[in-house]
Amino acid sequence: MKVSVIIPTYNERDNLEELLYRIEEALKDRDYEVLIVDDDSPDRTWELAQKLSEKYPVRAIRRTSEKGLSSAVIRGFKEASGDVFVVMDADLQHPPEKIPELLEKIEKGADIAIGSRYVPGGKVENWYWYRRLISKGAILIGRLALPKIRDVKDPVSGFFALRREVVENAQLNPIGFKILMEILIKGDYKRVEEVPFTFGLRKAGESKLSGKTMVKYLKHVYRLMRWEGELDRLIKFTLVGLSGVLVNEGFLYGFVRFLGWDKILANIPATELAILNNFTWNDIWTFKDVRRKSLPRRLFNFHIAALTGAVVQWIIYAGLVYIGLNYLVANLIGIIVSFIVRFLFNRHVTWG
Ligand code: GDD
Ligand code: MN
Repeated sequence: MKVSVIIPTYNERDNLEELLYRIEEALKDRDYEVLIVDDDSPDRTWELAQKLSEKYPVRAIRRTSEKGLSSAVIRGFKEASGDVFVVMDADLQHPPEKIPELLEKIEKGADIAIGSRYVPGGKVENWYWYRRLISKGAILIGRLALPKIRDVKDPVSGFFALRREVVENAQLNPIGFKILMEILIKGDYKRVEEVPFTFGLRKAGESKLSGKTMVKYLKHVYRLMRWEGELDRLIKFTLVGLSGVLVNEGFLYGFVRFLGWDKILANIPATELAILNNFTWNDIWTFKDVRRKSLPRRLFNFHIAALTGAVVQWIIYAGLVYIGLNYLVANLIGIIVSFIVRFLFNRHVTWG
């Protein structure tokens, strides 16, 4: 089993020697190569990499017409000759000593092994609580929006190993912001394992990933939702919800106008009929490909979602009115949040 270690670089000259030395120490019993994919760094990282190829099994790829972290990794995949690919950063935030553990997971049958900050034993050094919160919040959004990766604790890690077959035929988008997430959605694989590691401090140089990071990330999640068909689901769910409004209003009107029922009580069966309407359409349309639980179970969960949504809507409404927000605006926010909660509950539980 030959291993190709793919390392995207931009101005990492000062980290290169230690990096290659530590990789050699970790992999010296194996057949391996290192690919440095450099975007024509002003500090001439590519030149040093070429020089170090006298000492280590390293190949320098100097790109002049393309740039970007993800596209550099994808280029590495194309050039690599190994059976297993390892992707890592050059700045030693990813400890080379962990590579053998990733490879062991692959040898034991995993298709992808992720160096993870967020499984027990993993951690991040020197991050303020809010940095950690943003990181975890971003990951949570990704996992909720993309059910396929919901069990992965660190889907945005830049440190991972995979079998060549996982990415060989995948249509990876080079402008995708988080390459691992791109692979987890589009790759061909069955088993994913996570190996805890400590995301340390950068040894030298500075980080290139800042500013607009969150916006880029959300855009990427959005694109992957489209790819996965999750956005279509969200649209269908919305249309079904709107049809429910018509059903609710129609029956309420009918019960009051033609049957002479009490206006307050009549809304109870009218609401239930709307819920049944929505359930039916969602079951045979929105989520028809993910009907895994039994019908009674789905029906029950759908009611729980409706109830939870109503409670959430009311709490948000009451809370926002209490702090002085206009009541109509407060209600609108309540409706939107309730909608999201209902969609996610149904996607992950009812049709999960
Ligand atoms: N070729 C190339 N082109 N390499 C790049 C580019 C680029 O445009 N931008 C960054 N790199 C290289 C860096 O030289 C480094 O080796 C690696 O990609 C990671 O860049 P950093 O600037 O050190 O990123 P970071 O530490 O902020 O982010 C890391 O951690 C994140 C998790 O918090 C990366 O591993 C991310 O992928 C990861 O999501
Ligand atoms: Mn870094």
